Amino acid sequence: MILAQLAPAADAVRLSLHVLAATVWVGGQLTVVGLVPTARQLGEDAPRRIARAFSRLSWPAYAVLLVTGVWNVAAVDRGQGSAWQAVLGAKITVVLLAGLGAWLHGRARSRLGLAVWGAVAGGASVVALVMGVVLAG
Ligand code: HEM
Repeated sequence: MILAQLAPAADAVRLSLHVLAATVWVGGQLTVVGLVPTARQLGEDAPRRIARAFSRLSWPAYAVLLVTGVWNVAAVDRGQGSAWQAVLGAKITVVLLAGLGAWLHGRARSRLGLAVWGAVAGGASVVALVMGVVLAG
């Protein structure tokens, strides 16, 4: 009885944490890209230092997304249809691709490497966000 009363509050905490982490991971990447031209004017090293500072926020947010993502599946995966399951499987693949892209972006030294892996990370992150909205229905 009391558990049933607490369920909506737990759902609010779960989804709020998941969406808050998504704002940092996805929105942060888009924002940093937008700041790069201005950062370049502040010094050659400024974009790299800003990217490094962002990674201290983005990786904890990514970890929160993984943990609350598993929590989401445990909370809502009760007899969902095969289309929902397929979107979930594709989303998990895209999330891992986003993490791999971001990790390789952080290690890249050439302009091409930075551009390619940054695009992979940002693109896959936006796709993961859209798939999350589809899953939530
Ligand atoms: C880059 C990582 C991720 C992003 C940007 C992301 C984003 C989102 C967003 C925006 C929502 C919609 C929330 C709403 O409209 O209320 C959502 C829902 C959801 N996400 Fe994620 N997510 C990520 C990772 C994960 C992972 C790793 C999993 C599974 C292990 C997962 C499973 C789910 C599920 C099942 C829902 C539906 C929750 C519900 O209906 O209550 N997500 N996600």
